[in-house]
Amino acid sequence: MLAGGLTLPAEGDIMEQSVFIATAAFGLEGVVTRELTHMGFDAKGENGGARFHADLAGAMRANLWLRTADRVLLEAGTFEALSFEALFEGVRSLPWERWIGAHSRFPVTGNCARSQLMSVRDCQSIIKKAIVERLKARYRLTWLPEDGETTAVTFQLHENRVRLCLDSSGTALNRRGYRTWNGEAPLRETLVAALVSLSGWRPGLPLYDPMCGTGTLLAEAAMRMADRAPGLTRSFDLERWPGAPVREFERLRAEAKEAFHPERACGIAGSDIDPAAVDLAERHLRAAGFGNRIPLHVADMRACAREEQGGVFLTNPPYGERLGDRKACEALYRDLGQMAARHPTWSLSAISSHPGFERCFGRRADKKRRFYNGRLECEFMTFRAREPFRRAVAAEDGA
Ligand SMILES: C[S@@+](CC[C@H](N)C(=O)[O-])C[C@H]1O[C@@H](n2cnc3c(N)ncnc32)[C@H](O)[C@@H]1O
Repeated sequence: MLAGGLTLPAEGDIMEQSVFIATAAFGLEGVVTRELTHMGFDAKGENGGARFHADLAGAMRANLWLRTADRVLLEAGTFEALSFEALFEGVRSLPWERWIGAHSRFPVTGNCARSQLMSVRDCQSIIKKAIVERLKARYRLTWLPEDGETTAVTFQLHENRVRLCLDSSGTALNRRGYRTWNGEAPLRETLVAALVSLSGWRPGLPLYDPMCGTGTLLAEAAMRMADRAPGLTRSFDLERWPGAPVREFERLRAEAKEAFHPERACGIAGSDIDPAAVDLAERHLRAAGFGNRIPLHVADMRACAREEQGGVFLTNPPYGERLGDRKACEALYRDLGQMAARHPTWSLSAISSHPGFERCFGRRADKKRRFYNGRLECEFMTFRAREPFRRAVAAEDGA
């Protein structure tokens, strides 16, 4: 610890441990922390995500395998900044050359709250200037071309303490690469992955989405069942950082490729009343590597009749946000409740922003959680199975 509470990452090799933050949407911090713990990291949940220690190979593993986090940030440093001078000196003293190459572009974005320095634009330009000064000196350059790969720098100035981070993910982690076509109101893949694990479904139980839209719920469940790393076919910014352990990264990718067994994704199926949505869902599941293994068909949810005993309905029905759609939605929820009642050994989990969902559905949810679908405040409700298989599903409910 230096004057002003300045903490620097340990000097030395790029493979040394750093602090990383897996950022998460509101309400998903606990799920992300559990995922990291399950992956063997010593993770601690905090507002907006979870922090953990790792070397760059560990960060690559987190980027490849985390299903519910938005990004993995490396914490470059954190210190008190009561003046622009302190901000400049603190930033300049951090070892930016470890992560930013002589040609890298490094946009700086951030926010300020309850601090002496409250101008985001001024802080942004001071931070940028300080990093430029540091890099010019280290690379012996008079100017930085910034014509190479991007390493995004973020800052948060909160109660006079600044936290500087580098975005190791690049494009947000919900961009798995399989969803290239968007249908009506799809949920983010990261939220969907969380809903899959909070629904109580476990690989081995049948899972059915009777209003599957573009198939995101099915794709995320299938990826989990088949051990498909969500980041398998995309790249991450840290792969282009100076000193990135490229061979180790290649080994982690090869390992992830080997782990993927699409044939293990069985018992997952869905339908939708809209043939165009089913068409998109088929394309997405193919793009995710499942070929035609996930049965999909065009059907009205009202006609849904599953023969298996014990399973999980998991769905994202329309919310009726537009005034004219509200009544139709309420009728749909009532019919969904009746469909669930015809399947007493199945549980049902649904997400909706409609405040009258339970009333229309005809039952109080056994469990409720609040999430945001974009800007929409939603509730994720689980209605447990009422008969024989109830205990099996409930006992494994990770919620
Ligand atoms: C909010 S979207 C689902 C989005 C989906 N989770 C995704 O990832 O794309 C709601 C879906 O419900 C479907 N739907 C509405 N009424 C239906 C009904 N009676 N039976 C089956 N599907 C229905 C719509 O066609 C639409 O695709």
